[in-house]
Amino acid sequence: MDWSDLPIGRLIIAFLLAAVIATFALAFAISGGGGTSAPSGAPATPATLEPPGARIARTQGCFTCHSTTGERIVGPSWKGIFGQQVTLSDGSTVTVDEAYIRESVLNPTAKVVEGFTPVMPSFQGILSDQDITAIIDYIKSLQ
Ligand code: HEC
Repeated sequence: MDWSDLPIGRLIIAFLLAAVIATFALAFAISGGGGTSAPSGAPATPATLEPPGARIARTQGCFTCHSTTGERIVGPSWKGIFGQQVTLSDGSTVTVDEAYIRESVLNPTAKVVEGFTPVMPSFQGILSDQDITAIIDYIKSLQ
């Protein structure tokens, strides 16, 4: 007697077939569904695009007083200042170059920009030479 002729035998065979098909379907889905999932070679999101000088200025609180957009806050904006002439409180003018920025950071009251209250603290002993160079590079980039 052939047991598959019995109704219960057919049921068991149908069940086993379904189980095998389900297993293959699952394995196919896990393996990526034949390329329908997101490409695994997509570029990872970069950790940060912030220039080093911007990061230092941000952590030192420079942006509390200086914008990079042209907006005047407590101090002059850094946008486009590199290479420009600024008028100082004594009426003289100075070109914003590396030496001027360095002096402004280390000794802010040496040259006070006209129209601003000299409230900037000195960063002498706080910022290293490399830190200031990075900030200068960053200010240069804000054209
Ligand atoms: C409490 C506010 C304040 C903070 C914080 C501050 N500044 Fe200033 N800064 C000013 C003011 C006000 C002026 C304009 C008066 C003067 O020349 O001192 C100025 C001027 C400057 C100038 C000259 C700008 C120009 O247009 O001639 C530079 C460069 C500068 N700051 C850099 C920095 C850097 C770099 C930092 C952070 C490490 C910083 N400042 C933090 C208030 C601030």
